[in-house]
Amino acid sequence: MNASKVLLYIRDESLRRETVNTLKKSCQNIDFEIYDGEWSGLADQISQTTPTALLLEFGALTSDPAAAIRQIKSQVPRLKIVALHSAADPKIILAAMRSGANEFLHPPFDESLPAALEKILSHEGDSASATRGRIIGFLSAKGGCGATTIACHLASEIQNQTRKSVLLADLDLTSGLVGFLMKTPSSYSILDAVKNLNRLDESLWRALVVEHRPGLSVIPGPAVFTRRDDPDDDQIRRVLQFMRTQHDWTVLDLGRSLNYTALAALDEIDQLFLVSTLEVVALHGLKTIVHGLFDQGDKLQLILNRTPKMMDISTEDLEKILGRSLYAALPNDYMGLYQSYSSGNLLSSNSRLAQDFALLASKITGVPPIKSKKKFAFFG
Ligand SMILES: Nc1ncnc2c1ncn2[C@@H]1O[C@H](COP(=O)(O)OP(=O)(O)O)[C@@H](O)[C@H]1O
Ligand SMILES: [Mg+2]
Repeated sequence: MNASKVLLYIRDESLRRETVNTLKKSCQNIDFEIYDGEWSGLADQISQTTPTALLLEFGALTSDPAAAIRQIKSQVPRLKIVALHSAADPKIILAAMRSGANEFLHPPFDESLPAALEKILSHEGDSASATRGRIIGFLSAKGGCGATTIACHLASEIQNQTRKSVLLADLDLTSGLVGFLMKTPSSYSILDAVKNLNRLDESLWRALVVEHRPGLSVIPGPAVFTRRDDPDDDQIRRVLQFMRTQHDWTVLDLGRSLNYTALAALDEIDQLFLVSTLEVVALHGLKTIVHGLFDQGDKLQLILNRTPKMMDISTEDLEKILGRSLYAALPNDYMGLYQSYSSGNLLSSNSRLAQDFALLASKITGVPPIKSKKKFAFFG
C-alpha cells in the first residue's frame, strides 16, 4: 500500500464530508486516505499506511476516546493526531488535548484545518520530536508493595513486545535494588550520569549503562548514597530528558512514597504508576499520594499488587474509596518470585504473574502481547 500523509477516521457523515471537502479544496498537496473499518483495525491500518497525521473523530470511537488516543500515541509516538468534533465543547477539548492529541478542531474547517495540517506537516522532520522516547515510572505506596519488581519485569516485557531500545533506570537513590534483581553489577549509577551531565553524550552513556541483553539497558541506583550526592530538580529533569533521546522506552523505579526524586521527575514522566497492596498502611499511603498528585489527571494510574484470590472488598468499593479506577490488579505469587530470584532470573513466562506482567506491558505500549493463553483478571 502506498504511503499516505494523512489518514482519516471519521464516522459521522457530515463531519467526514466537511473534512474531505476542505482537504480537496484547500489542501491539494496533501495525500489523504479514509479508513472505513472498525476501531479495532485502526492500529493495523496505521502501521500499513504509516501516515504522518491522523484526523480522528473524537467521541464516536469507543466509550473512552481519550484512552483510545493515548493508546495510538503510545503505539506510534510520532503520529500527529488532530481530534475532530462536531462542536466546541470545552470538556471534550480538554479531554482531547490531555490525551495527547496535537490539535482539536471543530467545523467550520475552511481555515482551521489547512492551518493545523500545515503546522503539523511542516514539523515532520523535527528531530527533537522524532527522538522522544516515552518515560514511565513506578512508585511504591509504601516500601514493599512491589514497585521494583514490577519495574524490572515490565522493562523486560516492554522490550520483548516492542523490540525497541528500553532503559530500566533506578531512581530509588537510597535503597535501589534494580541492579541486584537484574543481576547487573556496575561501577556506575544514575549519580554518575548526573555528575557528568554537561558532557553526557551517546558514547559516555553507553559506558555508564549495563546491557542486560540486546535492547534492554540498565542503570542502577548508587551502592552508597549520602546527602552530599543529592541531585537537584533540574539535574534529575535533565538526565531524564537525555534518557529520552537515547531510548524508545525508559522505565523508572521511583522508590517509595512521595519522595523528592519522584517529585522532581514528575514533569518529565509520561505516565506514573502507583503500586499498592491491599494492606491498610499501603492503602493509606496510596490515598495520600493520590491526594497530593490530584492535579496529575490521567498521568497517574493505580496498580494493585499481590491481589489475593478472594478480596475482602470489591473492586468497585476500592475504586470508590480511592476515587480512581484501577489500571491493573496483579496476582500474588510469592513463591514464583522467590524461586526465580534465587536462581538469578526474572519470572519465567509461563507463570500467571508473568503473563499478567505481559498484559500490563501490552496495555501500556498498545502492542498486543506475544502470547496470551489464558483469560486474566484485569481491570480497566
Ligand atoms: N505480585 C507479587 N506477589 C508476591 N510477592 C511479590 C509480588 N510483587 C512483589 N513481591 C515481593 O514483595 C517484596 C517487595 O517487592 P519490591 O518490588 O522490592 O517492593 P518495593 O519496590 O515497592 O519496595 C519482594 O520480596 C517481592 O519479591
Ligand atoms: Mg523498591
